Amino acid sequence: MSRIVYVNGAYVPEAEAKLSVFDRGLLFADAVYEVTAVIDGKLLDFPGHMARLRRSLAELRLPSPGSDEDILAVHRELLTRNALTQGHIYLMVTRGEADRDFVWPKGDTPPSFVLFTQKRDAIETREALEGLRIASVPDLRWGRRDIKTVQLLYPSLAKMEAKSRGKDDAWMVEDGTVTEGTSNNAYIVTREGTIVTRALSHAILHGITRVALMRGANEAGLTVEERPFTIAEAQDAQEAFITSAGAFVTPVVEIDDKPIGTGKPGPIARRLRALYLEEALRTGL
Ligand code: PDD
Repeated sequence: MSRIVYVNGAYVPEAEAKLSVFDRGLLFADAVYEVTAVIDGKLLDFPGHMARLRRSLAELRLPSPGSDEDILAVHRELLTRNALTQGHIYLMVTRGEADRDFVWPKGDTPPSFVLFTQKRDAIETREALEGLRIASVPDLRWGRRDIKTVQLLYPSLAKMEAKSRGKDDAWMVEDGTVTEGTSNNAYIVTREGTIVTRALSHAILHGITRVALMRGANEAGLTVEERPFTIAEAQDAQEAFITSAGAFVTPVVEIDDKPIGTGKPGPIARRLRALYLEEALRTGL
């Protein structure tokens, strides 16, 4: 079935969903995005995704495509039109169409605003059940990873590098410590049972799932320490895992060919995944 896609105010079949070749999103990656998970027809963590979208827009001085209520209405309409109950909604705002120039267009160039759905067959994917095998790569991205821009070439190359090494994903390393995964935040559980993840800064994306994870961990009485960790410390950890709107909480079972803990998804990651899904569904819109 062909999807219905939202482009600049219109709901159109995907074959007719088009932006200009002069769109600054295409020419300069001058665009920001969000990915919101959908389970049982509910949008997970929607207010968080909207808050981060507002922050990304402000950082790049991009115009807003509408109020949160307007954007929620587009999400809902897309779910209905595509009969989607499980998957994601991708949202992108670009600086719009203008002749190629490093200087931003003057005046009132409207932003381009695109949303589309992606169907997901299973929540409990192979990765969720068996855990991820991770390869480390250097973090060669730009310095404002806290802004969710569509500049995803390096993360894509990094993931391809991991795949070429027979692994599932890559963790990126800068100045000797892990920043994050190619499209997720990274965590370890020390042998003392403390969850360690890098503190928020310009070095990583401020994950919306991360916020919920930390809340769940605190409620479950687990200690969370926000600090950098090395690949060696991760390899020596009891458990490791990632979070994202795409993967929720997914265990990591191997890093650079070394099994983590028992080499199987750990109980803490599995518990945090269950807690996350329960709470996200309870609060989903
Ligand atoms: N990626 N770090 C990076 C670099 C990301 O691209 C993402 C999300 C995250 C996790 O953020 P959140 O919990 O808000 O999804 C962390 C999305 C899912 C993607 O690009 O598809």
